[in-house]
Formats: sequence, structure tokens, C-alpha cells
Amino acid sequence: MHTHHTKHAGIVAALTVMAGIVAACSTTSQPPSAESVPPTENTATLEEGKKIAFDRKKGNCLACHMMGDGVSPGNIAPPLLAMKSRYPDRAKLHAQIWDATARNPLTSMPPFGKHRILTEEEVDKVVDYVWSL
Ligand code: HEC
Repeated sequence: MHTHHTKHAGIVAALTVMAGIVAACSTTSQPPSAESVPPTENTATLEEGKKIAFDRKKGNCLACHMMGDGVSPGNIAPPLLAMKSRYPDRAKLHAQIWDATARNPLTSMPPFGKHRILTEEEVDKVVDYVWSL
């Protein structure tokens, strides 16, 4: 009985040491994951996104939305404010701008990405800009 107990304790100690080694290895040799790359805070890109959003021949978002410092905005759509806290998941905001009809088939908001009103790159820049509001 006594020997059995000692042997058991030895195994537990060995496992504890091994777990420590595994933990140490996994924290030092992990490559940076895709999620750890922050979305752009790049002012030039945000400016481009804003230009596309405000351009009447591109996003023309101001026809319906109050956003940023855009002048004489329309009011048929909700103001775009505090977007990061309302859309913690950037993908959801992207989906709304890419194809608003997915969430509401009766919306008056054009499906900018799906109908190629904007290119993928333009949609991405607009999303970054809107997310910064
Ligand atoms: C013709 C009008 C119109 C235009 C143009 C328009 N939207 Fe919208 N948008 C709407 C309406 C109406 C809603 C309300 C939700 C719905 O209809 O499903 C909306 C909703 C949204 C939402 C969700 C708002 C919320 O409170 O959750 C976002 C984000 C958005 N629009 C972004 C944009 C961006 C960015 C552009 C320009 C690239 C744009 N919209 C252009 C009409 C428009």
C-alpha cells in the first residue's frame, strides 16, 4: 500500500513537469494569428474610405445617412454613430454594406458589394471608415 502511494505521487510529479514544458513551448513558439492583426487605423485609408462613402457616384451614403462631417445628409436611414461599439464584429458591418438585402430584403439600401456598385477594395475601405465613426 505504501509503495503504491509513492509511485502514484511520482507519476503525478512527472506529469506536472511535462505539462509545464508543453505550456512553455506553446507560448514561445506560436506564430501571430490572423486575428491578432488589427484592422487599419491608417489615416490615409480612412480618408479614402470617407471619399468613396461621400462620393455621389460611389457610395452616396449621405443621401440616406447622417455620418461623420458630411453636409446635408438624408434622414431616411439611421445615423452612423458609435459603430465600433454597435458592431463589435467588423464582419457584420461588412455584411451590411456588402449586401443590406441579406438582413432586410425590403431595404432601400443598395447592395454595394453584391451588385458591384463598389469594388471589393472600395467596400473594405468604406467599412474601415464607417467602423471609425
Ligand atoms: C438609398 C438609401 C441608402 C443608401 C444610399 C445607403 N443606405 Fe445604409 N441604410 C439604409 C436604410 C434604410 C437602413 C436601415 C436598415 C434597413 O433598411 O434594413 C440602412 C442601414 C445601414 C447600416 C446599419 C445601420 C445600423 O444602425 O445598424 C449601415 C452600417 C449602413 N446602412 C451603411 C451604409 C453605407 C456605408 C452606405 C454607403 C456606402 C449606405 N449605408 C448607403 C439606406 C441607405
